[in-house]
Amino acid sequence: MTRAGNRRPQDHWGHRAKKEGFAARSVYKIEEIDRRVRLFRPGARVLDLGAFPGSWTEYAAQKVGPQGRVLGLDLQEGRRALPAWAELRKQDVMAPDLDVLIGASSWDVVMSDMAPATSGNRFVDQTRSFQLVMRAIEIAERTLAPGGGFVAKIFQGPDFEEARRALVRQFDEVRIIKPPASRTESIETFLVALRFKPAAARG
Ligand SMILES: C[S@@+](CC[C@H](N)C(=O)[O-])C[C@H]1O[C@@H](n2cnc3c(N)ncnc32)[C@H](O)[C@@H]1O
Repeated sequence: MTRAGNRRPQDHWGHRAKKEGFAARSVYKIEEIDRRVRLFRPGARVLDLGAFPGSWTEYAAQKVGPQGRVLGLDLQEGRRALPAWAELRKQDVMAPDLDVLIGASSWDVVMSDMAPATSGNRFVDQTRSFQLVMRAIEIAERTLAPGGGFVAKIFQGPDFEEARRALVRQFDEVRIIKPPASRTESIETFLVALRFKPAAARG
């Protein structure tokens, strides 16, 4: 079968994204999360991990406005035209040299929609998804400003609780949100953590 033959038909969310000028239907996942927990404020600094093709970056850029900044990183080269305060860069988030790029930064929101290339083996995919989430948590721990927010997509599996517990230790509130735009048959869900407590402030 060709690549095009493998592609899913566009659903309601896909059509809406196209009509509203977003890069992908996944925008409605972050929109719903934002609607429920108010993640973004004007002027905020947002780090978007696994950002290609760019719909979360586009959404966050609209919300933070010209006083804010959005940096999206992905294995794939970004192709979208973005406002001056948003940027997509080609970068492996697992690579150690990531620190050069984001090490000294202080972000108000770290979000990750990173997903492994699916192998067809559920256990392998869950394990890879878990590794990406733990990397996102580690980055958030080092670079989030006090009070900052965190979102990460995770494939539900045996490691899910470990990721959730890592967040509970470091944030005031942790929620699990499965937005309507996330396909019911998909094992993905989203860990959402609010009000980051840097190590010194934790009891
Ligand atoms: C579901 S897509 C992201 C969609 C994006 N949030 C949007 O709304 O346009 C998941 C992305 O994670 C990226 N990804 C997976 N592993 C990564 C890694 N190690 N470093 C950077 N990006 C990664 C993939 O390249 C893929 O583009």
